[in-house]
Amino acid sequence: MSSTRVIVVANEKGGSGKSTVAMHIAIALIKSGQRVATIDLDARQKSFTHFIENRRAWAKQAARELEIPDHFCFGKVQYPTAEDEAVGCKALTDTVDTLARTYGVIVIDTPGHDSYLMRLAHSLADTLITPLNDSFVDLDVLGTVDPKTFEMTGTSHYSQMVQVARRQRQLDKLSIDWIVLRNRLSTISSRNKRLVGGGLQELSRWLDFRCVEGLAERVIFRELYPRGLTAVDDIDDITLGTRPTMSHVTARLEMQNLLGTILLGEPRSSLVTTDHHRAIG
Ligand SMILES: Nc1ncnc2c1ncn2[C@@H]1O[C@H](COP(=O)(O)OP(=O)(O)OP(=O)(O)O)[C@@H](O)[C@H]1O
Ligand SMILES: [Mg+2]
Repeated sequence: MSSTRVIVVANEKGGSGKSTVAMHIAIALIKSGQRVATIDLDARQKSFTHFIENRRAWAKQAARELEIPDHFCFGKVQYPTAEDEAVGCKALTDTVDTLARTYGVIVIDTPGHDSYLMRLAHSLADTLITPLNDSFVDLDVLGTVDPKTFEMTGTSHYSQMVQVARRQRQLDKLSIDWIVLRNRLSTISSRNKRLVGGGLQELSRWLDFRCVEGLAERVIFRELYPRGLTAVDDIDDITLGTRPTMSHVTARLEMQNLLGTILLGEPRSSLVTTDHHRAIG
């Protein structure tokens, strides 16, 4: 059995932070000493691909050594026939199998809508990370809510799709470690934040996911894109184009905590043997 970990970042919801999280995890893992390959399944938008291209261009321009993953972008046919789907799925499976011979981690970013490649990616995932904005609109893809009591009343389309992927993996005696990452959290407490948090805790027991208080709403997660930089990069005037602030430092800590949480869930990998918190530097 391969010890390569496939990390899929997915949510059947646009704009929840998938590409941002995929990029940060990939760079943080390279910094911790892993060989990382990345795959963008959102071939129309290509945010993940452009993020990496921007990083390569900035490294050249600023004459800096920046860690760059080996990257692949996967197109899908817009109105696929059954044959197109079979060809696309085989190509993705073969690519992941081939990459698994060389790389310790494969990070896959997915589009925010259902597609055959996105569904297949779920069934390839050792670790599934679902970033979720702190809103009942976003929670709706995981479960339904009672409007009077705000208690969860059932599961929804996306969480049911994850359960199907889990069952597929179980046939091969594999599992998916599912992490729901609360993204763009407000730093001030609010009734909405508490209620969404309560709903997620309840759902985590029903659906068997780990809920992580992931990343706060921070400008740094948006402003670094043109240079392809991340919050885990060394912070200085040249890389950021601005002086580091407490927000930068806190964002970096949040990412390190997230990485620790991701690595905790993997029993068959050698990743957990290093002190990754210190190693990400
Ligand atoms: N923690 C954060 N704080 C502030 N802005 C954020 C944070 N996470 C993501 N963003 C911003 O939110 C927007 C959506 O993020 P991103 O493109 O990563 O989401 P996505 O889920 O990949 O979207 P899509 O479904 O369109 O592919 C971007 O403008 C990004 O910079
Ligand atoms: Mg995206």
